[in-house]
Amino acid sequence: MEKKNIDWANIGFGYMPTDYRFVANYKDGAWDEGALTTDANITISECAGVLQYAQTCFEGMKAYTTEDGHIVVFRPDLNASRMADSCRRLEMPVFPEDKFVEAIEEVVKANEAFVPPFGSGATLYIRPYMFGSDAVIGVKPANEYQFRVFTTPVGPYFKEGAKPITIRVSDYDRAAPHGTGHIKAGLNYAMSLYPIMEAHRQGFDENMYLDAATRTKVEETGGANFIFITKDGKVVTPKSNSILPSITRRSLMYVAKEYLGLEVEEREVYFDEVKDFAECGLCGTAAVISPVGKIYDHGNEICFPSGMEEMGPVIKKLYDTLTGIQMGHIEAPEGWIKVIK
Ligand SMILES: Cc1ncc(COP(=O)(O)O)c(C=O)c1O
Repeated sequence: MEKKNIDWANIGFGYMPTDYRFVANYKDGAWDEGALTTDANITISECAGVLQYAQTCFEGMKAYTTEDGHIVVFRPDLNASRMADSCRRLEMPVFPEDKFVEAIEEVVKANEAFVPPFGSGATLYIRPYMFGSDAVIGVKPANEYQFRVFTTPVGPYFKEGAKPITIRVSDYDRAAPHGTGHIKAGLNYAMSLYPIMEAHRQGFDENMYLDAATRTKVEETGGANFIFITKDGKVVTPKSNSILPSITRRSLMYVAKEYLGLEVEEREVYFDEVKDFAECGLCGTAAVISPVGKIYDHGNEICFPSGMEEMGPVIKKLYDTLTGIQMGHIEAPEGWIKVIK
């Protein structure tokens, strides 16, 4: 398969349509078989549930080429089950989890020419999503839905090495205690746009959200979970019912314990104790881990001993081990790497 003529190392993170996408429709209480299409556009009612009441959720993952030339996807079964959770919370029909993984496989295979080569640092981003497609004017769930999966090549997350970022404690809340913070609903991202743009305007890379009820505990950022390293080398991650269960974070905690023999704790993390940690990182599909060097909290700064130049040593070890597993240099736990081709 001849690859597309793309400058893989310099494509950034933007939408570049690929040749095929998967579409399935839900009507009269059942999903159709679904199929690939070359049509990147969608025509729906002006009154579609998604347009009026934001009935939509999505997922995000990557396909990439390993050193031995396979095209693989990392733990897509977890994206399938997280999307099923999102659908249930939004009164949307679940797209069967096995069919979800098959759809991913089908779309990636069909767009093989867009899967960046090994060593480029680029990947093929995969975006499954679902939305209410028929007209609803009263506030209620739609009757018809569309599930789609498109792909788009994205460049390496860290072009010039993983430089630590500076984040601020947000004055806005991300998720209410019994709200929708634990699912990947579009509405969670719509409301995060103002706080993130404001953070950028003030010179910060990201927002640290605290729990909405007490504003004393660390939740997550708009697009990644936190991990912290204690001064004695323990890996700590916030436990909360209102954060998205990051697949990367869950994988890192496993790697920390089972591969690196580190002590791990998933527990409530009070903002007051953040100043005592040695390292801090944000974990998610996009970067695996982005190191955090500094947290700004209303005039006070927390500067981690790992500094602003490079990842701290424990986070670096975690990063190298998980990316090694993803790229096939380190043996993966059973079922983590789905080989597409
Ligand atoms: C709010 C939020 N938290 C965390 C994550 C990281 O999750 P994952 O590791 O599954 O990409 C994401 C990205 O999907 C996100 O949007």
